[in-house]
Amino acid sequence: MKLTRAMAIGAMAAVMAATGVVSGVSAADDPAKVIGYRQAVMKGLADHITAIAMVAKGEVSYAGHVAGHAQSMASLAKLIPEIFPAGSEAGAPSEAKPEIWKDWDKFAAAAKTLEDQSAKLAEVAAGGDVGAIGAQLGEVGKACGGCHEPFRVKKAQ
Ligand code: HEC
Repeated sequence: MKLTRAMAIGAMAAVMAATGVVSGVSAADDPAKVIGYRQAVMKGLADHITAIAMVAKGEVSYAGHVAGHAQSMASLAKLIPEIFPAGSEAGAPSEAKPEIWKDWDKFAAAAKTLEDQSAKLAEVAAGGDVGAIGAQLGEVGKACGGCHEPFRVKKAQ
């Protein structure tokens, strides 16, 4: 049987329709990729903390950069609720606890706390006082722990 163009298009449409049925939600991302993506966002937060801590300890004199790092952190914190969609608890190695989805309001509030403390760090940093930057960085660190403690599986180390 000779494959005509119309038949090829028809077959493609059938495959697309079938894929839509299989994946259920048409625009849903692969949960394994979502997990990898959110871990990358978390690493971004950690890298900003590392950079700010180097300034706070006086290892480098880039106090003028801290507001930028802190604003980036506030922007990333805002993404947190979106990168933990329901259905992304499995599919790749993940330290996300099921409590995230059971206690969503508390999880979202922990993300908001990080956003607020990071925004405050950006304000404090504008003053250029390295001691004050260090103190507010401590508050930001607490906001990380305030979510990791209830919602992230502790590594067996
Ligand atoms: C609202 C909750 C929440 C806040 C706030 C939060 N985290 Fe996380 N973080 C998580 C969860 C949940 C995981 C586990 C994600 C996974 O493995 O799927 C995680 C994972 C991580 C990881 C491991 C990423 C990897 O490679 O597996 C790092 C690093 C990290 N967080 C750093 C931070 C830092 C630094 C902050 C604060 C600036 C922060 N997080 C704030 C919830 C949070």
